[in-house]
Amino acid sequence: MIQFIIWVVLSILTTVRADDRHKIVYKSLQQATNECTQYNVQGGCLPRCVTLTTRDWNDTLGISSVYSRFFHPDPNDICSNNRTQRCLNSKITTIPQQNSCLRASESVQCYLDQYGQVNTTIPQFIRFTILQDAQLFYECAAILGYSHQLDTLLNDWEFKRQETRCVLRCFMIRSGLYSEPKGLNMARYYVLCGGYEDGFYQQAAECASRLRQEVPCEDKCTLAQRMATECIGVDYATSSIMQNQGDSANYVLASRASSVYMVNDQNADSDATYRVVNSGSTANIVDNGSSSTYQGGNSNMFFRTSSNRR
Ligand SMILES: *[C@@H]1O[C@H](CO)[C@@H](O)[C@H](O)[C@H]1NC(C)=O
Ligand SMILES: *[C@@H]1O[C@H](CO)[C@@H](O)[C@H](O)[C@H]1NC(C)=O
Ligand SMILES: *[C@@H]1O[C@H](CO)[C@@H](O)[C@H](O)[C@H]1NC(C)=O
Ligand SMILES: *[C@@H]1O[C@H](CO)[C@@H](O)[C@H](O)[C@H]1NC(C)=O
Repeated sequence: MIQFIIWVVLSILTTVRADDRHKIVYKSLQQATNECTQYNVQGGCLPRCVTLTTRDWNDTLGISSVYSRFFHPDPNDICSNNRTQRCLNSKITTIPQQNSCLRASESVQCYLDQYGQVNTTIPQFIRFTILQDAQLFYECAAILGYSHQLDTLLNDWEFKRQETRCVLRCFMIRSGLYSEPKGLNMARYYVLCGGYEDGFYQQAAECASRLRQEVPCEDKCTLAQRMATECIGVDYATSSIMQNQGDSANYVLASRASSVYMVNDQNADSDATYRVVNSGSTANIVDNGSSSTYQGGNSNMFFRTSSNRR
């Protein structure tokens, strides 16, 4: 845990270059705080505003474990993560959910007290929202000249078409998740996925080098797509961290990171729908607001679909 946090911090430092940015956003806690003061957020609600701004807070789910990227844990303190989790659990059980400002502020305090040394000045990667992802997808389809066949792309769940694979590759590059020379940007996927375990990096690296052998090098789109779906999507979805948490919301978020958030007119009546692709067979998964209904439990990869074009 600690090793890879440090690894993440180092790799973010080394990977931020102007020419690498595309649409990517980095913020420090200090910048997020300045932003929130401009919105006139009151003192007690400031931590909630700051963590919302860094996309680490959700009133339902609480604080994301990747909030840890703003901290330097003491490498000798192997219990810092567990202490932080215990602290967070104690707050969740004692503070009512409606009191979201207090919950957020106490959760932040858990990190400050238990996790490690905070660094408020160093900017960290801020993940995109689902709407921003959708926007990027449309932009990429337009850039590649596929705007007229959007529906075809959006229904190509299994990436059978080269066009879909190329739009995904464009999406991955534009959102800073992938580059040809460096492959998958694991530090950013880490933030997007809400964290994963140490072993994941090793598995993903092995998967990526296998694909570099397997996929003909001139087929750049297929390489990028298979890296996302095979090295991030499947491995992450079946990793033990997810099984431990059993958290369907995270699960979908994780998969969203490895796939593309897809918009589908056919589901115009529901607020959000998830489709699942599992070893070639497909099943519909309906996310029903707060109470999610999932079918086909052992599935590997989701594509989020939504109806915001209604
Ligand atoms: C942290 O907690 C988990 C689960 O309770 C436990 O398995 C693990 O050994 C703990 N880690 C440390 C370093 O104490
Ligand atoms: C935060 O990190 C930056 C860059 O590594 C460093 O220059 C600065 O001194 C750090 N600040 C604190 C309070 O650790
Ligand atoms: C918070 O998480 C819930 C459950 O996953 C989700 O439905 C909701 O949209 C999230 N809220 C925000 C503001 O992202
Ligand atoms: C959504 O939830 C409502 C109320 O719990 C239920 O009646 C409805 O059948 C659910 N819809 C789906 C598609 O699961």
